[in-house]
Amino acid sequence: MWGGRFSDKPAELMQAINVSIGFDRRLAAQDLEGSRAHAAMLQKTGVITSEDAAAILGGLATIAAEMDAGSFPFREEYEDIHMNVEARLRELIGPAAGRLHTARSRNDQVALDLRMWVREACDRTHAQIRALQKALIAKAEPNAATLMPGFTHLQPAQPVTFGHHLMAYVEMFGRDASRFADARTRMNESPLGAAALAGSPFPIDRQMTAHALRFDRPTANSLDSVADRDFALEALAAAGITAIHLSRLAEEIVIWMTPQFGFIRLTDAFTTGSSIMPQKKNPDAAELVRAKAGRMLGSFTQLAVVMKGLPLTYSKDMQEDKVPTFEAFDALELSLRAMAGMIADLEPVPERMAAAAGAGFSTATDLADWLVRELALPFRDAHHITGAAVKRAEQLGCDLPALPLAELQALEPRINDGVYKVLTPQASVASRMSYGGTAPDQVRAQIERWKEILA
Ligand code: ARG
Repeated sequence: MWGGRFSDKPAELMQAINVSIGFDRRLAAQDLEGSRAHAAMLQKTGVITSEDAAAILGGLATIAAEMDAGSFPFREEYEDIHMNVEARLRELIGPAAGRLHTARSRNDQVALDLRMWVREACDRTHAQIRALQKALIAKAEPNAATLMPGFTHLQPAQPVTFGHHLMAYVEMFGRDASRFADARTRMNESPLGAAALAGSPFPIDRQMTAHALRFDRPTANSLDSVADRDFALEALAAAGITAIHLSRLAEEIVIWMTPQFGFIRLTDAFTTGSSIMPQKKNPDAAELVRAKAGRMLGSFTQLAVVMKGLPLTYSKDMQEDKVPTFEAFDALELSLRAMAGMIADLEPVPERMAAAAGAGFSTATDLADWLVRELALPFRDAHHITGAAVKRAEQLGCDLPALPLAELQALEPRINDGVYKVLTPQASVASRMSYGGTAPDQVRAQIERWKEILA
């Protein structure tokens, strides 16, 4: 491509470090779409003739067909996707191919291609997050009143419902979806026409190409257009946060699956066995979703470090933007789908959950609240009395609902047997009617709200 200036071939090692066709071939569809829009614009503005434009568009259609058929010759000697397409175009239509690159550089071309790829990835991801939310809601609905322990520090804290717990993730993934939507809005400007870095002396119409490629508008600074990759970074940051949420849910599935917890069952569809221990049923899919967060967060770091400290505008460093971007989204899309599959697949074991919900003095707060409400004690005093009641129950080897009234009255004589009404996990959960609380009616209200949002 630059034979005019060069007389020798590059060293083999130069080619080895420079070549990107092995990974940027994933930008083929975007590259062709961008080229079609560019050629049509060059024709409309009179920069190239109608005959040349027709030949170029015909050649690009042949290339698209070759790619679909898997017969397009991707060749390392042409370095990247852009030069592979141009070289093939020249073979197909001859010298007219050389006019396609008028008023364009690989710098704005690659910025465009990657932006379009990331934009599509954001849209796909958004849809997959929605699908996961729907799976969570479908599982939450029949379990709006299914008791389970709520934890802090992974110690039993207060009883909650399984539906409420699942809906917590619906909220998290809802924010993740909105992060992808926000990132998409910000990235939706076309860099095509920035050319190498300074813009073009040809009478190009950047509005026209922006519109044809479904961008809201062209970018407003040619240097920025070819120099920045914050659109990819922002999408990777959103992917990283989503991955963190996925990993937490995955971790809970792993914990809930243990015989010690026994809160859920997964079918054979999302588990594996052991080659030596016949009794095993391992939650491998959940473990791998948990682990893929490392890949996604690593991808963000990788691209951030590539971009950090680069002088304006384009540097070849930026060729390294693609692998982390592709890897992160591959991992994210697979994780989202696997998680939606696991959520649909899992079945709670309500007896185990309910038993655990009542264990560990989980209704101690309810006792303290009763003392405040019924006996008008300051909360701190109520907290102290309740602590003593827990200690006594522990000594006697019973739980709070089984602690004899005489024992409670020894701590505070005004306690009466009305207190037992609040000491069951059911009563505890049902009492938490504050907006967003775990009372089954509140959980159902949130499920209805989300169903409307997702309808
Ligand atoms: N393959 C290159 C990349 O991915 C395309 C842009 C090359 N531009 C250049 N001035 N060498 O970044």
